[in-house]
Amino acid sequence: MELFDVYPLYSVTPVKAEGAYVWDENNTKYLDLYGGHGVISIGHTHPKYVKALSDQLSKIGFYSNSIQNPLQVELAQKLGKLSGCEDYQLFLCNSGAEANENALKLASFITGKSRIISFTNSFHGRTSAAVAVTDNMKINAPINLQQEVTFLPLNNIELLIQELMKGDVAAVIIEGIQGVGGLDEGTTEFFQQLQEICQEKEALLILDEIQSGYGRSGQFFAFQHHHIQPDIITTAKGMANGFPIGAVLISNKYKAKHGMLGTTFGGNHLACAAAISVLNSIEEENLIANVNEVYKYFLEEIKLVSKVKKVKGKGLMLGIEFDFEVGDLRKKLIFDKHIFTGGSNNKNLLRILPPLNIKKEQIASFINALKELIAS
Ligand SMILES: Cc1ncc(COP(=O)(O)O)c(C=O)c1O
Repeated sequence: MELFDVYPLYSVTPVKAEGAYVWDENNTKYLDLYGGHGVISIGHTHPKYVKALSDQLSKIGFYSNSIQNPLQVELAQKLGKLSGCEDYQLFLCNSGAEANENALKLASFITGKSRIISFTNSFHGRTSAAVAVTDNMKINAPINLQQEVTFLPLNNIELLIQELMKGDVAAVIIEGIQGVGGLDEGTTEFFQQLQEICQEKEALLILDEIQSGYGRSGQFFAFQHHHIQPDIITTAKGMANGFPIGAVLISNKYKAKHGMLGTTFGGNHLACAAAISVLNSIEEENLIANVNEVYKYFLEEIKLVSKVKKVKGKGLMLGIEFDFEVGDLRKKLIFDKHIFTGGSNNKNLLRILPPLNIKKEQIASFINALKELIAS
């Protein structure tokens, strides 16, 4: 059987990894500043993470959600404490799109309304409901619960008010910082007004922190830069350092009912063990402080690179905008300098999403590589 060829691939085959490095089958070492779309949060093959997963696997890897799993409770308590979101309830699933799909479903169940507002260039995933709120992909897919989606430009409060005044909106879904779309973000004023008008018009505010969450922005969740309290938060990527997991955090204003949501694999023992281990590392190794320190260093160093138009994003969710398309630069970074970076819908933007424990020296070697390639 052949693979269904939906992904353009770089010709590199990583076969082992450690920390911020991966090695290919010829033993060439690469600096991984991308972590498979911001998934690698505590570094590849972190020893405590590997131990937590193998210890758990040797005990029990999976049982269904109709039987008690104390690891889910432990994960909920740790996540509540570390994120400052103790007043939320946790529903576990397997991916980002699934988390958003459940969040959107919940919004319709709770409000009895169906229209969703999302933003231009947003990306919320590829399952049916989530695809519907993916402006940049323009894929037509059936929409769950007949949810209709209206796309609005970011930071335009008048248009937002106009749409919400119609009274038929179940939820507004917004990324803490846009990822795939190219690192645009709402201003603090916009987020605060958005929260206010959602409350007034009884629409739920869903913060998609699938990429921007888990310490990546320098706060546990990126919306915390704006001092708001969403009704629902979704998260996934960095949550278990590569083990598939997704989560919906639901304000305790909303009461659960048996059968309201469900999943076979979500919250299984292995996924929980991986996610708990990530939270332990974030706490014990002070990783959010490291994100902020390395970010400051990066901002100083990037000033010394020519042709940079703008730096976008926060913490270790960063985009470097050049005055040229970065496709060739990314190829040279991989094949000449052995550094993985990412792209986005903005063709001039080079994205980096390194592990939260990246060191300044590793950022320095990236900056040097950029200087050399741009000068050549
Ligand atoms: C902000 C955001 N939401 C949702 C998703 C979808 O997540 P997944 O690919 O795990 O379904 C992504 C993936 O890139 C994302 O960046």
